[in-house]
Amino acid sequence: MAFVKVCGVDDLGPRGFNAFYLMDVGVEVLVLRDRTGELRAFDGVCPHEDYPLVEGQFDGATITCAAHGWIIDASTGKGVSPPTCRIPAYPIKIEGNEIYVDFDTELNA
Ligand code: FES
Repeated sequence: MAFVKVCGVDDLGPRGFNAFYLMDVGVEVLVLRDRTGELRAFDGVCPHEDYPLVEGQFDGATITCAAHGWIIDASTGKGVSPPTCRIPAYPIKIEGNEIYVDFDTELNA
């Protein structure tokens, strides 16, 4: 599978942080703009108990899961607390005003 269209840049909302369910891929993808201004795409469910991460807090640097407070680095998808967790990070590209994600490649596997 190549890059798949996920959303428009404007769809990230005021937090610069939103999730989109892609029925064809069977994935909820979290798209965000991190504190460096880079757009990132991650698997959208918490690795602890599959809670939707979009329900959590995002401060530009980290995502904090609303269920039990696990914290994930918003630039890498790697765990801050606990450090052993991670969410898959996917390549992203922008064409015009649209965001595309390649779900075949995990950047942080
Ligand atoms: S489901 Fe996310 S911390 Fe438990």
